[in-house]
Amino acid sequence: MNTFELFTTYNYLFMIKLVKGNWIPLLIGVIIVWVVISEIVKSHHTRQQDALSDQQNTATDSTWVAPSLFLDPEPKGKEREMVIYGQNLIAHTAAYFGPHGSVAHSSNGMNCQNCHLDAGTRAWGNNYGAVFATYPQYRSRSNAVQDIYGRVNDCFERSLNGKALDTGSHEMQAIYAYMKWLGQSVDKGRHPYGSGLPKLTLPDRAADPQKGKEVYVSACQSCHGSEGQGAENGTHTEYNYPPLWGEHSYNDGAGLYRLGSFASFVYNNMPFGQASHLHPRLSQGEAWDVAAFVNSQPRPHLNQHGDWPDVSKKPFDAPFAPYADSFPQRQHKYGPFGPIVDATKKNK
Ligand code: HEC
Ligand code: HEC
Repeated sequence: MNTFELFTTYNYLFMIKLVKGNWIPLLIGVIIVWVVISEIVKSHHTRQQDALSDQQNTATDSTWVAPSLFLDPEPKGKEREMVIYGQNLIAHTAAYFGPHGSVAHSSNGMNCQNCHLDAGTRAWGNNYGAVFATYPQYRSRSNAVQDIYGRVNDCFERSLNGKALDTGSHEMQAIYAYMKWLGQSVDKGRHPYGSGLPKLTLPDRAADPQKGKEVYVSACQSCHGSEGQGAENGTHTEYNYPPLWGEHSYNDGAGLYRLGSFASFVYNNMPFGQASHLHPRLSQGEAWDVAAFVNSQPRPHLNQHGDWPDVSKKPFDAPFAPYADSFPQRQHKYGPFGPIVDATKKNK
């Protein structure tokens, strides 16, 4: 046995002795190392999975979630009654202001909720998440700073083809209280994810009313009717299926009369109960085409001579002349919008 062998044998014996004498702390040591390593591996995996589901689900993760009156003990008393009344006014507007309304007969019989789904709380359903945080705001259509009352009345006069409410009225104050309560947790100036209407990709062709008619017949007509007239409930107090055109629909000064807004609302929400932002049922092209079809049908007219006093601020899909560019009205209404948007950018 040379010195080296002697050394290793000695070492070996020493190791066995060491293990025998200290096996409990050693075992604990091994377990700790094993646990630490497996935790590191696990957290690496979850992080990878998180990153993946982030990519797939950005829409659900940080999307605005409305407060719930069931869960929120505030507001109390009179203020709570106002919020609840406001919510009812949004969900069942026709019961108060429709042709048989209990407060006045001053609207077309549609509900705010027909276009602001779930009383303005549904993500991607044209909700009110940003309203309290972002008004008063400058609006190019009136070239003035507009407050919440003014914006609500815009929809009364255009989307509901009706009359504006008095700012001091019980009903307007209730709608205001509701909007304030809905937006309570949104920082000033912030547009939460999924609020309002998202922008769709602009198609590189004009939207086609003929193709849109086919989409309408196969995917919309069963609820909204062959003449776009919708269907009332049994007691004629509200629509089960709201009208899309004709005398009881929104007028041609309404937001939905612009192709981009209509296509976005429908792409993210229609057919009702079947489509959602994460699972749209139409292609974007079909949404643009059906928008072109519906918005080429007859509807009430609003005198809009006062709109966009600064004509250079008109949005690309504003359907009425005059324009700051030389593109024809038809192109502003149906597209292709890309050249209009590019020309506007160049002039800025
Ligand atoms: C026919 C559809 C329709 C109806 C009915 C309707 N609205 Fe609107 N509303 C719109 C559209 C479209 C917009 C613009 C959304 C956008 O461009 O982001 C809008 C915008 C708004 C906004 C501003 C939202 C924001 O984030 O800037 C408020 C507030 C509003 N509506 C309130 C109401 C109220 C109150 C009623 C009922 C009296 C009502 N709306 C009825 C279609 C409608
Ligand atoms: C299953 C029935 C159903 C189908 C199919 C359907 N919708 Fe709707 N739609 C509704 C209902 C119900 C509402 C109102 C939602 C509410 O008040 O909560 C609505 C609201 C709307 C609105 C806003 C209110 C208005 O009347 O202007 C538009 C625009 C619209 N739908 C377009 C379409 C288009 C375009 C299609 C086909 C791609 C379609 N819908 C298919 C049931 C349907």
